[in-house]
Amino acid sequence: MAELNSVELVVSARRLVTPQGVRAGVLHIGGGRILAVTDTDTAPAAVRRMDAGDAYVLPGLIDSHVHFRTPGLTHKEDWEHGSRAAAAGGVTTVLDMPNTVPPTLSPEAVREKAALIQGHSLVDHRFHIGVDPQRPELLAELDPGVATSAKIFMAGHHTAPTVVRDAAQLEKAFIAAAEGGVQLVLHAEDGELFSLLDGWWGEPDSYARYEAHRPRTGGIAAVAKVVELVRRHGARAHILHLSSAEEADLVSAARAAGLPLTFEVTGHHLSFTDADTKRLGARTRLSPAIRGQADQDRLWAALRAGLPSTLGSDHAPHTVAEKTRSVRQSPPGLPGVQELAVAVWTGMRRRWPEEDPDVAACRLARYLASGPAELFRLPGKGRLEAGADADLTLFSPDATWMLSAAQVYAKCGWSAYEGWTMTGEVLRTIRAGRVIWDRATRTFGAYDGRLLDSTAGG
Ligand code: NCD
Ligand code: ZN
Repeated sequence: MAELNSVELVVSARRLVTPQGVRAGVLHIGGGRILAVTDTDTAPAAVRRMDAGDAYVLPGLIDSHVHFRTPGLTHKEDWEHGSRAAAAGGVTTVLDMPNTVPPTLSPEAVREKAALIQGHSLVDHRFHIGVDPQRPELLAELDPGVATSAKIFMAGHHTAPTVVRDAAQLEKAFIAAAEGGVQLVLHAEDGELFSLLDGWWGEPDSYARYEAHRPRTGGIAAVAKVVELVRRHGARAHILHLSSAEEADLVSAARAAGLPLTFEVTGHHLSFTDADTKRLGARTRLSPAIRGQADQDRLWAALRAGLPSTLGSDHAPHTVAEKTRSVRQSPPGLPGVQELAVAVWTGMRRRWPEEDPDVAACRLARYLASGPAELFRLPGKGRLEAGADADLTLFSPDATWMLSAAQVYAKCGWSAYEGWTMTGEVLRTIRAGRVIWDRATRTFGAYDGRLLDSTAGG
């Protein structure tokens, strides 16, 4: 433990969300790290102090699934806006996706992206490299200093054109990932099935038909393939934005049988149903599609049972102009990094009002902090404990407020949650001991978020 005389900030709280549960305590912070978690304040009088009062102090949240659109798609989103949305949503670390223009398919492309972002992000970050459909074998030699995880799109659309379609190439990716110790993250839908359906009854021309055109069958078929490839080759695979009960069951069963399979649930699959897509149209047009109430219920049940490893926003903004194109031309995706934690909190409090809020807070910390930190090996992240990075989210659990477009920090300026009455509010977000979001003044901090190196620290 570092010397207490290097303490620069003291945060006192009645509800610190630690790996051992919720407790009252005092965080002694210095040099961007938590130096000690104690019962009492032992710092010199001159040190700056912050009292979190009744707010939960969560570990800085980690969103392991964002599309911040640099390079090439910065009309949709950029790191200034995206990281402001993250900070306002309590998120201090993001993992960014490779479907940019050009796509991030090589170590050089990852390095170029990192250079573009330096000085433009409020939050710490790392990148999922994209699997090159022509060269999946690159994963076997992937430098963990560049990326430790790789994204495979098994289905695509115009914002996700780099799809590993060929079965032999897909298998090569699993072999190479196992060899290189790379964590795969997968958009697991069978694009060929969707093409088959489109060829039969034409592309969807109304949002009432959208879910039927991108059915659960596509997800189930792809997840079954992934289970088989993991069984055969042993690669670690994380299924992103899982949308149906059947997929949740398949992945959970495979995991229970000892396979290194995990899954993510998104804020939007927990918050909306196909009825919303009929009402909101393109705003909740998602890939994978938002499904019915029974599926949403099953995803919540999975969350309560501890089955997913991460929650993600899949923050994938598109402009209003793009979203108001015809049904055939409108791209899937919505902004969500700002809404994720509050939307999930709102859902938990509404669904399980009898639950001890401390249990809900620990669940949030697990899915949005320790879970992603462990899965993606983010040293110093995800836990409030001595030695960890001083990333904190001060969260007021009972505040209610209505979300309007005026509060949206994503560059696209809209949210599918507009008009929602939210429970819970992010009062303050702190990264490396410094405030990057302050709700009272609606101000942000310094754009000096770090590129996280998985090979550093412990
Ligand atoms: C994503 C996007 O726009 O980048 N869209 C989405 O609906 N989730 C890409 C994707 O995952 O398909
Ligand atoms: Zn996806």
